[in-house]
Amino acid sequence: MFSANTYQNRRKILCEQLNEGLILLPGNNPVPMNYPSNWLRFRQDSNFLYYCGLDYPHLNLVMDVTTGKSILFGDDLTVDDIVWEGERTKISDMAQSAGIDQFLPLEELQSFLKAQKKQVHHLPCYRGDQHLFVDGLLNGQSNGASKSLIQSVIQQRSIKTEEEIEEIESALQITAECHKIAMQSTHPGMSEQAIVGKIEGHALAQGRRLAYPVIFSVRGEILHMNEYNNIMAEGQLALNDSGAESPLHYASDITRTFPVSGQFTDRQKEIYNIVYDMQAAAFTFCAPGKSYKNAHLKAATIAVKGLKRLGLMKGDYSAAVEAGAHALFFPHGLGHMLGLDVHDMEGLGEDLVGYDDADDRSDQFGLAYLRLAKNLKKGFVITVEPGIYFIPHLIDQWKDEGKHMEFINYDALDSYRDFGGVRIEDNVLITEDGYRILGPHIPRTIEEIEAVMAGNNA
Ligand code: GLY
Ligand code: MN
Repeated sequence: MFSANTYQNRRKILCEQLNEGLILLPGNNPVPMNYPSNWLRFRQDSNFLYYCGLDYPHLNLVMDVTTGKSILFGDDLTVDDIVWEGERTKISDMAQSAGIDQFLPLEELQSFLKAQKKQVHHLPCYRGDQHLFVDGLLNGQSNGASKSLIQSVIQQRSIKTEEEIEEIESALQITAECHKIAMQSTHPGMSEQAIVGKIEGHALAQGRRLAYPVIFSVRGEILHMNEYNNIMAEGQLALNDSGAESPLHYASDITRTFPVSGQFTDRQKEIYNIVYDMQAAAFTFCAPGKSYKNAHLKAATIAVKGLKRLGLMKGDYSAAVEAGAHALFFPHGLGHMLGLDVHDMEGLGEDLVGYDDADDRSDQFGLAYLRLAKNLKKGFVITVEPGIYFIPHLIDQWKDEGKHMEFINYDALDSYRDFGGVRIEDNVLITEDGYRILGPHIPRTIEEIEAVMAGNNA
């Protein structure tokens, strides 16, 4: 945990943002996997972690906006519990470590809220059990999640402090090791699953967990591929999108794409270098006051220029980007916020987190998936993750519909149908006058990747 001071300050700032009422923050409870006592690994709610850092189930936090006081609701384990689970920190010690003034048994939460006769602010629930719990506590009288609370939390969590950056960099340290292991372990004839085992195994062996399910595939064009059934072959590219959590559950999110054989083909180099240039161009937009939507559009423009050079696109590049033709190859957004969640605060609402004005969100295919579009601020931590993919289903659909015929050379695409995809992703802190790529350097250029795969340290 951070010091009690950190959590006290965070709660104080939050309370000062709201006018009145109580803030209810329910912690997460264990989730059954296939029968009630067989649980998935526990993951605490990120907002709960942010405001009190207590990484245990069956806890609830209430803050009184007027007095600034906080109360922790929870129970010490019974001896019966201890027989199965072992001891855990006492509620009194938990409260003290988080700088919380008072603690009460969980069964008093409902009567406490009722007796205060104050508005109860809460955040959106993203788990069914949380919904039922909050509804039950408030006797179905909730007006829904509180917009002012959501906005205050987003404002606060968006700006990362030094100690949060250290956590993200600690996550990236393990992630860098995982990526290097993946590059050095991959060979033709190996299964994707074997590499996923090495990535997850390394993180677990360091006492870490992953911030999201590993994406590791020679079918890199499937954006969130979570199956690992392929045997990898010479001539294919493997895309590895994986990131560990820090000890306090801050995420990292890194993608590298590398040749299964250890050597890029000329064709792979051409596409790889376009994506590399897209990322380099996007980095130049990483500064306070710059619009991330413009960074996305700039990356799209670089993609179109590069694909035109290869004869895969044609026509005026600005008109192609304006029309959304590049989205055949780059169908996702350039990046998102990163923090306690890999898509930070997405549970609070993508538009509220990523857009200054939700009406600005495009409904054009591709641009619609841009999660972060607003002007960047010092202290934001974001991902920069351009990609180029050859998605046979999408190519066929667009070709059949005659879509963007003036910008796409469909015939030239035939020989790329089994290319897969390339994505390069790094995690970036917005600084006073620019940006800093967080974490240790992870081989990114073609030369660096080939060197590390040949067993040389890059
Ligand atoms: N790492 C997966 C994603 O950003 O969606
Ligand atoms: Mn990402």
